[in-house]
Amino acid sequence: MSVMPRTSTTPQTPAPLSRRFSVAPMMDWTTPHFRYLARILSRHTLLYTEMVTTGALIHGDTERFLRHDPAEYPLALQLGGSDAGELAHCAKLAEQFGFDEVNLNVGCPSDRVQNNMIGACLMGHPDKVAEGVAAMIEATELPVTVKHRIGIDGRESWEDLCEFIETVSAAGCRTFIVHARIAILEGLSPKENRDIPPLKYDWVYRLKQAYPDLEIIINGGIKTFDECHEHLRHTDGVMLGREAYHNPWLLAGVDPVFFGEGAPVQSRHEALRTMLPFIERELERGVYLTHMSRHLLGLFHGMPGGRQFRRYISENAHKPGAGIEVIETALGKVREPEAPAIAEA
Ligand SMILES: Cc1cc2nc3c(=O)[nH]c(=O)nc-3n(C[C@H](O)[C@H](O)[C@H](O)COP(=O)(O)O)c2cc1C
Repeated sequence: MSVMPRTSTTPQTPAPLSRRFSVAPMMDWTTPHFRYLARILSRHTLLYTEMVTTGALIHGDTERFLRHDPAEYPLALQLGGSDAGELAHCAKLAEQFGFDEVNLNVGCPSDRVQNNMIGACLMGHPDKVAEGVAAMIEATELPVTVKHRIGIDGRESWEDLCEFIETVSAAGCRTFIVHARIAILEGLSPKENRDIPPLKYDWVYRLKQAYPDLEIIINGGIKTFDECHEHLRHTDGVMLGREAYHNPWLLAGVDPVFFGEGAPVQSRHEALRTMLPFIERELERGVYLTHMSRHLLGLFHGMPGGRQFRRYISENAHKPGAGIEVIETALGKVREPEAPAIAEA
């Protein structure tokens, strides 16, 4: 099996891993193509893969699931699973393939994963999570982190949450990424579970107070840099999911605002032009344009011409033989700003 080189294909050197600002793992959304765009917009934002189950990695096409471009670093692999031996094996794979962190999903509420003891149902089995985490830590030098909810139906007290944190941290986990709402496993769809249970940011703040030595990252419903600044007064980092996907230009403000460094690109046009050679390489590999272009639709969110940009791509990218010219023509539908257009703080 080939191992990814850590050298980047772009002139940029990867930024050191920091969890101050990250983009959440999202199935079908944080694909390698979206991540490539995100990295053009920010050098420091920590990126996460979509969740991949240990079963898929071990019994499926391992290389395909772990495929990424070194330009995406710093990059964390998210695993779904609960068998300690399998998790250890996959953590080792993460290291071999060049990832910077391996993260365990204890937040996904879908029925499919519950049946396999994956995701949020594991909040009810802290010992099992601790066993898996210990095995992963033993197997790899990479940081092992856990992304979880503040509870699940039936186990939603503050004491339950503390028991979870204490049990899993005793196994060696130092970083907890906390989606600040419970998951309701009986009766709500995964989508509803991202909106209906109320957000309780104060519980995440309390965790940081109760366990100051642990790194606590807050997630759920965060949309603006002002909100991020407020959360960063109480926690060690912020993780944004849907807002970062639907409005990726936000990421262009991350390096200046949270890392004191210049933005890697000055305009949305520049970002997309920087992405074109990568899209061309992927097309040559046989990747369909739609697989990539769907992740670009948010880039001109809220801009004059943004709707025409999206419509042109939506109407043309799926046509047989569609190539880079579709993106170039779509780009021509939005006027290029005369002054730099860095995202506002
Ligand atoms: C389309 C979609 C797919 C998601 N897939 C995952 C996943 O694979 N692993 C995970 O831990 N969370 C997943 N999530 C949850 C997000 O990581 C995040 O916790 C949630 O969306 C709340 O953050 P937000 O309000 O900033 O979006 C997904 C969310 C969305 C919208």
